[in-house]
Amino acid sequence: MEISLIAAFDKNQAIGKNGDLPWHLSSDLKHFKNITTGNTIVMGRKTFDSIGRALPNRKNIVLTRNLKWQCEGVVTINDVNDIFEICKNDSEIFVIGGAEIYNAFLEIATKMILSYVETEVKDADAFFPKFKSENWKIMDESEIIKEENDDFSYKIITLEKSTK
Ligand SMILES: NC(=O)c1ccc[n+]([C@@H]2O[C@H](COP(=O)([O-])OP(=O)(O)OC[C@H]3O[C@@H](n4cnc5c(N)ncnc54)[C@H](OP(=O)(O)O)[C@@H]3O)[C@@H](O)[C@H]2O)c1
Repeated sequence: MEISLIAAFDKNQAIGKNGDLPWHLSSDLKHFKNITTGNTIVMGRKTFDSIGRALPNRKNIVLTRNLKWQCEGVVTINDVNDIFEICKNDSEIFVIGGAEIYNAFLEIATKMILSYVETEVKDADAFFPKFKSENWKIMDESEIIKEENDDFSYKIITLEKSTK
């Protein structure tokens, strides 16, 4: 099973502010939807709360330490390693954040789909974890994208772990 992290971050690897995304990037959300629809997504309980519902047409898995936490349309796990049993029939799963969950999965991830957003968020409070670029190989790099409903321009870089 391939574990792919999918994230959008700014020049300082900021991903969030006050429990939400720090920007509106309509075309990047479409890209996220295209990649994840029909597949399994894994998120932290706080990211689930910020979205507010299970995302349709995807298997939604939420990681929480609260053994009682449940929500309609969601498979709950309490340990990162539970993912291997629950997703044993998936060829690829997508870890969609936030900061704590990217950190928890970085070691075992083999792919990252990263949107590099051309801005510096002031007072950001959630960050993508530092990673060693020498351990990752660039497989694809998009053109610079900025569509009508995008706050900023960005490009999407796909990396694969070179030590896998
Ligand atoms: N730009 C992007 O691509 C992107 C993507 C996603 C999210 N975000 C942003 O990121 C921010 C949220 O990130 P965050 O780091 O605060 O929260 P998070 O990673 O979404 O969720 C953290 C929660 O996950 C659970 N958890 C974490 N590690 C765990 C472990 N090892 N085992 C079991 N449960 C574990 C805990 O839930 P309990 O407290 O319930 O125990 C913890 O409070 C928001 O601002 C959001 O908008 C940005």
